[in-house]
Amino acid sequence: MKGSKGLYLAILGRVFDVSKGRKHYGPGGGYHFFTGRDASRAFVTGNFKPDGLTDDVSKLTPQDILGLEEWIQFYEKDYKYVGKVSGRFYTKDGKPTKAWLNYEADLKHAKKMKSKEEADSARFPPCNSEWKQDVGGRVWCSKMSGGISRDWVGVPRMYHQPGKNNARCACVRNTGPPSDAKPNSAHSNRGDLDNPNMKEYANCRVDSESCPIADN
Ligand code: HEM
Repeated sequence: MKGSKGLYLAILGRVFDVSKGRKHYGPGGGYHFFTGRDASRAFVTGNFKPDGLTDDVSKLTPQDILGLEEWIQFYEKDYKYVGKVSGRFYTKDGKPTKAWLNYEADLKHAKKMKSKEEADSARFPPCNSEWKQDVGGRVWCSKMSGGISRDWVGVPRMYHQPGKNNARCACVRNTGPPSDAKPNSAHSNRGDLDNPNMKEYANCRVDSESCPIADN
């Protein structure tokens, strides 16, 4: 409001008082453009031009939806919530709109994808990789590769994840029961080596912890 000292911003239709962050949000501050409006989308796209400062979050990627959720948590923790904007996300009576329900469904989907990816990474941790001018590239496994701390090393395999276009290098457990073995059932002692989505690297011993990768 003109003449008022208040500083407010909205994110997903929820208004926060950001006056204690005046150095960022006040006139002349680097993030002044966030005040007096709901520019939810810009929090994750970084597009601070007028066309980017919008509350339309309908076409964000799952990763962006999770990023936006972090920003909301940040404002809830650090700033005072003062109410809702009647508009895209809430009706005049403060009831959630279709856009809000869509966002909520997108968030649920994004969280589900993230936990699926985390489970996949724990089962098939990414390999370490390096490239050297004289010797070329190699991939290898270690007990921390892919940032997944574990008590086994595994062997590198090309992992063709169902539904994804590109294969990635995965460290595959090569002893013990397969991850999907039923408890108490008879099983091999080859870990996940027989998983149908795994392919061996050419010119690499099947039990080697490190494999050269072909130039392309
Ligand atoms: C999508 C892109 C970005 C968004 C949406 C964003 C948003 C924000 C917001 C809202 C604040 C104020 C936080 C508060 O209330 O305390 C902030 C602070 C800050 N941002 Fe960004 N920012 C972005 C990118 C960047 C980049 C690329 C840099 C550096 C090159 C940067 C540097 C900073 C710094 C130094 C602060 C101040 C931190 C402090 O004083 O505690 N930001 N940012």
